[in-house]
Amino acid sequence: MDDMAMDDDKPVNMCACLNRRFSELKKLGSLEAAHAAGAGVECSGCVPYLKLVFETGETEFAIDDPRIPEEDFGQ
Ligand code: FES
Repeated sequence: MDDMAMDDDKPVNMCACLNRRFSELKKLGSLEAAHAAGAGVECSGCVPYLKLVFETGETEFAIDDPRIPEEDFGQ
């Protein structure tokens, strides 16, 4: 039950366009490699979160994660 609550708090965990989880994309090793695999290319909505994946090593985020600069939304 606690796990479910955590998922609700941090629902952003994948590139929906590519249908691949951040935890998988993280294994590619860099933002550039993830881009090359097609992540963040189609709608680019996941790009601010992908940056955080490779900056922090985390793979789940709140939609309004305070670490994401305002100008990064709506790229
Ligand atoms: S969600 Fe990643 S490109 Fe659209």
